[in-house]
Amino acid sequence: MKDTHKENGGDRSLTNRQGHAICNNQSQRTVGSRGPATLENYNFLEKISHFDRERIPERVVHARGFVCYGEFEATGKIGDEPAAQYTRAKIFSQAGKKTPLAIRFSTVIGGRDSSEVARDPRGFAVKFYTEDGNWDLVGNNLAVFFIRDAIKFPDVIHSLKPDPVTFRQEPNRIFDFMSQTPESMHMLTHLFSPRGIPASYRHMEGFGVNTYKMVNAEGNTALVKYHFHPRCGVASLTAEEAAKVQGQDLGSHSKDLYESIERGDYPQWDMYVQIMEDHDHPELDWDPLDDTKIWPEHDFPLRHVGVMTLNRNVQDQHNESEQIAMGTGVLVDGLDFSDDKMLVGRTFSYSDTQRYRVGTNYLQLPVNQPKGVQRVQTNMRGGQMAYAVDLAPGQNPHINFEPSIHNGLQEAPAMGPNNPPVITGPLTRSVLERRNDYVQARGRFNTMMDWEREDLIDTMATMLSACERDVQERMLWHFFLVHDRYGQGVAEKLGMAVGDVRHLEPLKGQVLTDEDQQRLKRLG
Ligand code: HEM
Repeated sequence: MKDTHKENGGDRSLTNRQGHAICNNQSQRTVGSRGPATLENYNFLEKISHFDRERIPERVVHARGFVCYGEFEATGKIGDEPAAQYTRAKIFSQAGKKTPLAIRFSTVIGGRDSSEVARDPRGFAVKFYTEDGNWDLVGNNLAVFFIRDAIKFPDVIHSLKPDPVTFRQEPNRIFDFMSQTPESMHMLTHLFSPRGIPASYRHMEGFGVNTYKMVNAEGNTALVKYHFHPRCGVASLTAEEAAKVQGQDLGSHSKDLYESIERGDYPQWDMYVQIMEDHDHPELDWDPLDDTKIWPEHDFPLRHVGVMTLNRNVQDQHNESEQIAMGTGVLVDGLDFSDDKMLVGRTFSYSDTQRYRVGTNYLQLPVNQPKGVQRVQTNMRGGQMAYAVDLAPGQNPHINFEPSIHNGLQEAPAMGPNNPPVITGPLTRSVLERRNDYVQARGRFNTMMDWEREDLIDTMATMLSACERDVQERMLWHFFLVHDRYGQGVAEKLGMAVGDVRHLEPLKGQVLTDEDQQRLKRLG
């Protein structure tokens, strides 16, 4: 541990937050040695009442996480082409350009002190402190997600969280929801495969998951997906291995990362992007704005953009991991949102929860402040815990509004142009047309090795064996639509057969592709 004795000029005397020396930290003020205590006991009351408030609400999801710091070094290119061809974001602009960053890895469902080797997606959230302000890329390790419309997020999370009565995570609740949600089959096939329990945070991939845009100096836009590949390789734990680790240590991933950085073994990831022209791509049988889909790499190759290195640990978990606040709305010039309905919905949720969880002035905390910019200059004032006034040098401090003729803040010069495609359509509540919910789960199943398929089938069957019959049947029906062997394998382990699911009709509103229809016919 770092010795701050010297840095403090050798004086390690205890004080309170008022700067008063604390000469006795062992005894309250009492009348005589046996009490009673007196109410004006300022130091005691300060100490205990601060302790009473040590915890802030944990994140509603991703409560257990671990932050560290590092840097991103750009290649100046996107694949073989100059980065400027696609984006004017300065972070990517020159070879060798370094941008400091913070990253928070996390599990999703468990509470703040839960196991880090649970079968659960892992959060992979990066805050780049760029010279144009912060850019947050809040992703996961599995490339896709369970749902494709943000309005379903509270439901999917409620199904995965503990039962509100028994406070246990219940397979029947999870698969009740998933069985009615065919778009989840791809994510479930990843999550219940051996990839579902990473060996450590250093040994997992990272993905932006949602579709974003890049904007170049001419204002031309391209659709983009982000990827991180760990240089130390991808490694996972089997359920048995995870059970052993968890029996001894709930925080094994944090420990591994912390210790690796402390011993100078700095983990690195190569960062890649996939690029697609910015339109709706009618030639594809899936939608580029659907976060339950990957973009096949043979059609949309990975293009290298730089390397991320993690090289510094936090000094304080609460300040830097509990209070770090990342969100999908935090973009810089040259990077933009797509119309992906999940992305748009998420973007509201992050800063909304952070104002509740951390407080109105969460962006004034050191870990959240932009570091690459000269200064922050806003007319935002007040709110709990405000401690800085975002004045420009020489600004009239009386003027906290804009416009003004009295030396207040002014609008910044215009940024470059932005010429995205024009979109028109009726105002509606509807689903994406090209859903094709089974094809990529099938692709994933096909690319697995035999032992991985067996492991997936085993894990699924174990979970489903704790579910009610109608939930089992509907899940089997989906698995048969994904792949015969998937359905067959799980059915056998449950003591069921294809005949047990023949009577099921497609779900309400479900549109099956021709291929799905063929598969369904084969069932019957
Ligand atoms: C954290 C909402 C989808 C990755 C959070 C938090 C909320 C939230 C409220 C807690 C944030 C905080 O307290 O600071 C949503 C909503 C979603 C959504 C409403 C969909 C509509 C996703 C998806 C991914 C994802 C698709 C993965 C690509 C994360 C990560 C964190 C997080 C990594 C933790 C960030 C950190 O470490 O501070 N999400 N989320 N979320 N979410 Fe989402």
